[in-house]
Amino acid sequence: MNICVIGTGYVGLVTGTCFADFGVNVVCVDKDEAKISTLRNGEIPIYEPGLKELVDKNVRERRLSFTTDLEGSIRKALVIFIAVGTPSRNDGSADLSYIEEVARTIARNLNGYKVIVTKSTVPVGTGSLIERIIKNEQNEDHKFDVASNPEFLREGSAIEDFMRPNRVVIGARSPQAIAILKDLYSPLYLIETPFVITDVETAELIKYASNAFLATKISFINEMANICEEVGADVHMVAKGMGLDKRIGPKFLHPGPGFGGSCFPKDTLALTRIARKHGLNFRIVEAVIDVNTYQRERMVDKIKKALGGDITGKCIGVLGLTFKPNTDDIRESPAVYIVKRLLEEGASVKAFDPAGMENTKRILQNVTYCADSYEVADGSDALAILTEWNQFRKLDLDRIKRILKAPVMIDLRNVYEPQDMKRRGFKYVCVGR
Ligand code: UDX
Repeated sequence: MNICVIGTGYVGLVTGTCFADFGVNVVCVDKDEAKISTLRNGEIPIYEPGLKELVDKNVRERRLSFTTDLEGSIRKALVIFIAVGTPSRNDGSADLSYIEEVARTIARNLNGYKVIVTKSTVPVGTGSLIERIIKNEQNEDHKFDVASNPEFLREGSAIEDFMRPNRVVIGARSPQAIAILKDLYSPLYLIETPFVITDVETAELIKYASNAFLATKISFINEMANICEEVGADVHMVAKGMGLDKRIGPKFLHPGPGFGGSCFPKDTLALTRIARKHGLNFRIVEAVIDVNTYQRERMVDKIKKALGGDITGKCIGVLGLTFKPNTDDIRESPAVYIVKRLLEEGASVKAFDPAGMENTKRILQNVTYCADSYEVADGSDALAILTEWNQFRKLDLDRIKRILKAPVMIDLRNVYEPQDMKRRGFKYVCVGR
């Protein structure tokens, strides 16, 4: 089977590569020539553990290739996955112009039956929009089906998530399209992956519902952490005690500076816009967004308080810039927001991140970027952990204490144990404990 994946961002590149590994012929298309030539040279434009090895293997075995030739790729493919970006417009709704452009190109190049699948998170109704565009603008008269197959990949473990998903959601009307998509995913039958087969609109909504619910868990535990701080309780024990209830579950109840990344902030906002468009008010998700915005600012206050209130002229050492570990992605990163705010408040910032410094340098020039955690701590007035990379979990704390100007640590990811830090002589501030 020949398939074509349009868009070589996180979603498209991982999807294309993993399908190639399942044994089908995949061409990944992007209009960005620089990106395609990077990929053709065997380099991966994003940081995703295990991706390079898998790309190399499937290119070598001739099942995976990269091109800018969208029209030719469409013509050769039976299944076309659309994985182009859907950035937020100013009002928070999703910008579908890339998707519309792709739909027009598909219409002009439809030379036989094809299944057109949206993989990017798209507002409800995008499937039927694509269908309308293709119907109205197709050059030759051929049958086609539009389907929705949302991705649930986490950055940093995207390959594992693709190869061992909790579920596969397929939204389509025609039995032919469903059969073709099920066939594509047939390697997952062996591990008994559940399949949810439904209509296009429902599939589109499942993705938003899942992300908004996960974001709700995070904002919930963050507000709980704030209450814990006031009453002297331990939020980790609250999360454990709650999470053991199988109806609640233990995951995504880790407090911190709030959620970031390319999905949760955008998708929660888009869901509230979808609701409003239909005359509804998604109050819970509106609150989730508010809490998340507040939480970031609360973290800035925490750092200021730990340093006696005024941070003008203070040097703050920062560990972690990405929105979470194991990625180089700094989109909507709470860490980047906090660094910006510290600079605004008159502090200077020294920072280190294992993968996110190149991206951060482009937007924050007035930060001193360091080679490792100890260079960051050296001479700083305080050390703040903003992203929980593994290498920040086993710092030589005696050394850190010696080289800091004062032994102050603000641990916004609750990596260390409060009692232990106190015993070591640190002024230690964390979240909800
Ligand atoms: C997410 C979804 O998990 C994935 O299914 C979807 O397809 C895309 O969005 P991702 O953005 O890669 O994936 O990251 P994820 O691991 O889900 O973390 C999202 C954010 O929530 C991060 O900023 C993380 O630090 C934060 N988070 C997560 C918490 O603050 N607390 C938690 O308990 C869990």
